[in-house]
Amino acid sequence: MSNVNRKKEEASTMIADIVLGLSYGDEGKGKVTHHLLKSGDYTHCLRFNGGCNAGHTIYHEGKKFVTHHIPAGVFFGVKSIIGPGCVVNLDQFFKELNELKEGGIDVEDKVFIAQNAHIITSRHMAEDRNDYQIGTTKQGNGPAYRDKYSRQGERAGTVKVLEDYIIDIFTEFHENEETVVLCEGAQGFGLDIDWGDYPFVTSSHCTAAGALLNGIPPQAVRKVYGIAKAYDTYVGAKAFHGKGREYDLMQSVGKEFGATTGRPRQCNWLDMKSLGKAIKVNGVTDVIINKVDVLREMGLWRLRYSTDDRINMTFGNEQSWKQYIKKFLPESLTIQFSDSPERI
Ligand code: IMP
Ligand code: MG
Repeated sequence: MSNVNRKKEEASTMIADIVLGLSYGDEGKGKVTHHLLKSGDYTHCLRFNGGCNAGHTIYHEGKKFVTHHIPAGVFFGVKSIIGPGCVVNLDQFFKELNELKEGGIDVEDKVFIAQNAHIITSRHMAEDRNDYQIGTTKQGNGPAYRDKYSRQGERAGTVKVLEDYIIDIFTEFHENEETVVLCEGAQGFGLDIDWGDYPFVTSSHCTAAGALLNGIPPQAVRKVYGIAKAYDTYVGAKAFHGKGREYDLMQSVGKEFGATTGRPRQCNWLDMKSLGKAIKVNGVTDVIINKVDVLREMGLWRLRYSTDDRINMTFGNEQSWKQYIKKFLPESLTIQFSDSPERI
């Protein structure tokens, strides 16, 4: 055997926190990611699934930004990576870079795309425009993932105009001294390709497992932040909106219109059964329930148990509503309620 002078392999010392949606997207993941990044703890921020179907609304230093592809790390000078679990639309990527620059954010050497992420082509977009069955965001997501899995896709690393942004995720995560990555999910458990209400789902993995697919060893996971809203919203073709004026009120008080498509989001009370399931499957350690202020403004405190049974529970006040949620969910969980678009 030749005397090859190779470095001995060390065990991974990587640390990863995951932020993911427990419902149908639009739970306020962007806000939580933005908040966590303020700690200065992280070396990387990773988008682990989805394409420009996602729309993250972020308030940074008093300005409102809506990002679709680029992870929130960019607001804090943290290396921001679009991971191999994602699909990327080139026009949207460059548009977003420009919008961030114009908004005064330094994107130089901060934004990267994994070489093995896939490209959403104009053909994918055209095909998705004809979707009427699922009510997609028409951003070419489904066709792009289909082509990835049928091995007909185009990887980001082969695209000339992306040259300056391409990285190898293994080198980045595992051959750097210290990697502490915040993984930012898109969509949510109810839209997950495997766990959602198929076929009314997106085409990617929105779960903690979906984050791991991006080169993150299971042992690296420290915290899993599961994000929900005080009520559920869903955008898509299936019927979800409750019947009665209170649901319309919820939509208008909560300003529930899509960040990507402008479509009104269907509204219903928070389903405790599916929330509990999402927490279990994702190994959630911390739950953040956003937009409690909306129910406060409505003056109604209700929860559901199971989409099928439509059993609504009514509470006399905010306190008893919160108490019920705390009692219902596992004791080991940290539960936080938020009532501000800018803070947790
Ligand atoms: P697609 O991901 O565009 O294929 O859409 C599939 C389903 O996921 C549709 O019901 C979309 O409305 C929904 N969806 C996709 N992305 C988001 C999101 O970021 N927020 C909310 N719903 C989404
Ligand atoms: Mg959104």
